[in-house]
Amino acid sequence: ATHVPLQEKDCRSITPPYPTLIENLALVRKYLNGRPLTLAEKILYSHLFDPEKGPDGGKIVRGETYLQLRPARVAMQDASAQMALLQFMSAGLGKTAVPSSIHCDHLIQASVGADADLQRSIASNKEVFDFLESAAKKYGIEFWKPGSGIIHQIVLENYAAPGMLMLGTDSHTPNAGGLGLLAIGVGGADAVDAMTGTPWELKAPQVVGVHLTGQLNGWATPKDLILHLAGKLTVKGGTGRILEYFGPGVFSQSCTGLATVANMGAEVGATTSTFPYTPNMKTYLHATGRGPVAQAADKAAAQGFLSADEGAEYDEVIEINLSELEPTINGPFTPDLATPISKFGAFIKEQGWKDEISASLIGSCTNSSYEDMTRVAELAKQAKAAGLKSKVPFLCTPGSEQIRATMERDNVTEALESVGATVLANACGPCIGQWKREDKKDEENAILTSFNRNFKSRNDGNKLTMNFLASPTIVTAMAFSGKLSFNPLIDTITLPSGESLKFTPPSGKDLPPAGFTAGETSYYPSPIPEPHHETEVLISPTSQRLEELKPFLSHFGPASGNPRGLELPSLRVLMRVRGKCTTDHISAAGPWLKYKGHLSNISENLLITATNDEGGDVNVAFDHDHDASQSETDTIPNVAKRLKARSQPWALIVDENYGEGSAREHAALQPRFYGCAMIIARSFARIHETNLKKQGVLPLWFADKNDYSRIGAGDIVETNGLAQLIEGDANATVTIKVTKRDGSSFDIPVKHTMSSDQLKWLRAGSALNHIRGQVN
Ligand code: F3S
Repeated sequence: ATHVPLQEKDCRSITPPYPTLIENLALVRKYLNGRPLTLAEKILYSHLFDPEKGPDGGKIVRGETYLQLRPARVAMQDASAQMALLQFMSAGLGKTAVPSSIHCDHLIQASVGADADLQRSIASNKEVFDFLESAAKKYGIEFWKPGSGIIHQIVLENYAAPGMLMLGTDSHTPNAGGLGLLAIGVGGADAVDAMTGTPWELKAPQVVGVHLTGQLNGWATPKDLILHLAGKLTVKGGTGRILEYFGPGVFSQSCTGLATVANMGAEVGATTSTFPYTPNMKTYLHATGRGPVAQAADKAAAQGFLSADEGAEYDEVIEINLSELEPTINGPFTPDLATPISKFGAFIKEQGWKDEISASLIGSCTNSSYEDMTRVAELAKQAKAAGLKSKVPFLCTPGSEQIRATMERDNVTEALESVGATVLANACGPCIGQWKREDKKDEENAILTSFNRNFKSRNDGNKLTMNFLASPTIVTAMAFSGKLSFNPLIDTITLPSGESLKFTPPSGKDLPPAGFTAGETSYYPSPIPEPHHETEVLISPTSQRLEELKPFLSHFGPASGNPRGLELPSLRVLMRVRGKCTTDHISAAGPWLKYKGHLSNISENLLITATNDEGGDVNVAFDHDHDASQSETDTIPNVAKRLKARSQPWALIVDENYGEGSAREHAALQPRFYGCAMIIARSFARIHETNLKKQGVLPLWFADKNDYSRIGAGDIVETNGLAQLIEGDANATVTIKVTKRDGSSFDIPVKHTMSSDQLKWLRAGSALNHIRGQVN
């Protein structure tokens, strides 16, 4: 084992440009008329693309105004990075506009232990890792190879800095908020905005203040704070909102503890979570080799940049007294079903569940700090001294190589292994379902984890596995009893000798007294890597998982064959979609996720769970132009493919809030890939509407929602007025001429939300085509 002390890092690309941010904020304050600002607002507004002008002529209303922002950094995990990079490549740029990193963590499957699992997973995912590494080299992206750790832990240890705004292509990106910044989880298309220097759009979130008083004590940890809050807010309570913690209770917690709290803000749907800069954050920056960042942050804090203004108003304030918090266990199947540990035994009994734990899992991006690990090691030592071993399989996932190596050097690993723990690779493993579990197949059972999510089937693919979330200390203590009803605060375990063991609450160590060790140094990419333009990006032409993204053809100009000038070509209506149609309906997940980097393959799932309003069937479309060899009805993707084969561009008619759900860019890429040029909706979900615009699909809104039912499969729809709009007449109105299959026709009015920039994307065929046109 190598135990190289962690070196001071090159901080040039990771220190926020505080003087500029503070100047930007001063510009914004001018048109906000001296309104005191929350910390979240300060960070957002100082990253406005054009702080001088501001949005809507300088009016910012939280919960209403759309902000155009300039994030400072992007982090991508190996699953979502694939399509993000394929899109970035098609923009034709030589390097990313902001520092970016790739982390190979989601594709490592846990089975027998770190080394063997890592080697097996590297072999089975070789083509994906080779692709990511070669693309990283070509474009100057920092590449963290398999085994280096979990994206969020690495970001916290290396890139996060107080007051910065960053994006990550993973929902737990907010973990970095433990260092007092805004880290937001997004889809690949948003990451591509930042990487190409395009303004990134976000509706100004509301800000919820969480006022922390008191101090955690005994068994209560930061995890219990967020488990408790999840119970209060529910899984929807944070939607469109940032959780901003303040008060003395923030200052009494470690930086990594705050990261755990921020991490699980995602479980209540919050945009992200943040905290004012604290002395513990400063110590953590120093401990992780980032002294220059701490010094710069100190100066920015002295100017008031890293905390809320006196008198800042929150949209809601939640009071929590940390002294009153008791350990909490959340679940099963939803992270907001919170039960204090004193009531958990009774809860299990009431439900009639077997009082048995089948496995205990600690670590992951949520809870693998040095503090967490030294706490559980203390419990392991107490158990070992009493002659106990874990009653159930006990798995530990370190968050990073730095944590793993420091645990090893400080005998934390030894303490865990001596009571039966298996230490897995530094990767997501069971947290994301990468767990080759051999027991309890299709059997009801209960696992206890220190992870963040517990939806059905998430960990082991068995929908009968009940996953309960708790702090690492509670998970560990309960592993020695093997019973769900065991409450380590009051209960004892009877030892073979007849004596009994009552655990003493562990305290742990915030940071390693001997400093962190870097571990295997070859895992660390060079900071500020130069792009190597000559590098070939490795995509096998026979790959089933990766496919180069060919730029979409513009709907206009000679190559398009469109005789209608700057109006869209005549479009055939594919179908009228009935009711709810989320991004999951448009591009299903599950087994399809393995094709995330292969647009042709994943497009086979287009709209397969959508309902056709003509007939009411799921995944049925009509092809009224079919030839003798084809049937009149077929699956939706098959009919879309037929239209593509006939070079017939098409349109969709959809219902309310089309595209709600996630930021999944595939839901816009796939229809476009098969030839969709326009979607007319009763209403759109904003993020998806923007994604459609980015891919060159024109989203239009029915001016009269009743017109929805007047258009059906096989009708021809044609825009009128779009040409004037594209040519710069912002007041031009667009109408749609509908020609029914019997030859009759009528016009309907429609509305649009296209800005002048977005009209340029449409004209070029996509936002990336537009960027490429500017580069060439
Ligand atoms: Fe996500 Fe768990 Fe990995 S929350 S980043 S899957 S460790």
